[in-house]
Amino acid sequence: MANDEQDELGDEIRHRISLNGPLNIARYMSLCLSHSEHGYYMTRDPLGVLGDFTTAPEISQIFGEIIGLWTAYIWQAIGAPTRLQLVELGPGRGTLMADALRAIRAAAPNCMAALDLHLIETSPVLRAKQAEALAASGISPHWHDKVQAVPLGAAVFLANEFFDALPIHQYQRVDKGWREILVTNDGQGGFAPGLSGMPAKQSYLPRAYHDAPIGAIAEISPARDAVMKAIAERLSRQAGAALIIDYGHLATAPGDTLQAVREHDYVSPFEAPGKADLTSHVDFGQLARITEKAGATAHPPLTQGAFLKALGIEARAAMLRTGADADQSAAIEAAVKRLTDDDAMGHLFKVLCVTSRTPEPPAPFAAA
Ligand SMILES: C[S@@+](CC[C@H](N)C(=O)[O-])C[C@H]1O[C@@H](n2cnc3c(N)ncnc32)[C@H](O)[C@@H]1O
Repeated sequence: MANDEQDELGDEIRHRISLNGPLNIARYMSLCLSHSEHGYYMTRDPLGVLGDFTTAPEISQIFGEIIGLWTAYIWQAIGAPTRLQLVELGPGRGTLMADALRAIRAAAPNCMAALDLHLIETSPVLRAKQAEALAASGISPHWHDKVQAVPLGAAVFLANEFFDALPIHQYQRVDKGWREILVTNDGQGGFAPGLSGMPAKQSYLPRAYHDAPIGAIAEISPARDAVMKAIAERLSRQAGAALIIDYGHLATAPGDTLQAVREHDYVSPFEAPGKADLTSHVDFGQLARITEKAGATAHPPLTQGAFLKALGIEARAAMLRTGADADQSAAIEAAVKRLTDDDAMGHLFKVLCVTSRTPEPPAPFAAA
């Protein structure tokens, strides 16, 4: 924390800890991100070069366009229903949706006419940005706090870098079982992680953690599980699909993935609460288990690079380069590489598709 910076949220967390004892990581994350007055997402637009981080839709319009065309393909594949609830979770600046709607309008006007748009967004600052970004689309979005508030009916759910922002709990393996990691005052005006004095039941944790060595960290996220369950239960009973894109791992495995990013640099998650983006890697193995338990199908995820290439990112980039000057052309090429290269976002980011129990996965996903 810079010396001249206000630290109201830090003061409040210090006070809470002195009164009631240490906070678990999930509570700490949710105060940092969503505290009604000082939470990270409540007070700012964190995206873009001048913010803290840049997401795929902010890198290239092609990202949102491809997802828009995929949405129109799903609408067609489920029998072109007269109404389709198009739901985006955590829409940021509304860029992905604006690009998606433009592509849908151009390629599938009948699908466009069937859309009801629902945005799940906690941030008042970003809700205002989304309204601005979507004004030209001609569709008035409905904003909700929770996915459960979306009316029933055929639906496509989209989430890019949403699940990583939901709170996690962390546990550490000790010689006799597991202890939850807690955030406590470090005695010098800051915060530090420590272990709970109470043992945690191993049965709370997925099986993949049960043989972990001493010192290993296990991460679980009841908040993510609840959102995934709500989406999967709907898709088990009604037509549609969900596309979940995020950084993370395919199989549940021990590891400490809690991270904080500020002005495009990694910082300690325990410094400057409410002023850095606090996230963790998404456990796609767990999302798949929750989906299957809820009666829907989680198709084997693709890497973001494979997904975008299979849906024609290179052909679309070539079209955009036609008529572009040399600088614009280089920028388009650089954006495609950033989205798809293995050493950029292409491999770390995964794309999970969830549908009802259909024998055929939607393109470009392959059967298990
Ligand atoms: C990392 S940003 C991603 C934005 C956008 N999807 C993109 O790719 O540019 C996370 C988004 O999720 C929203 N968000 C975070 N936690 C949320 C919650 N618990 N409920 C609803 N929205 C949330 C944020 O306000 C923001 O819009």
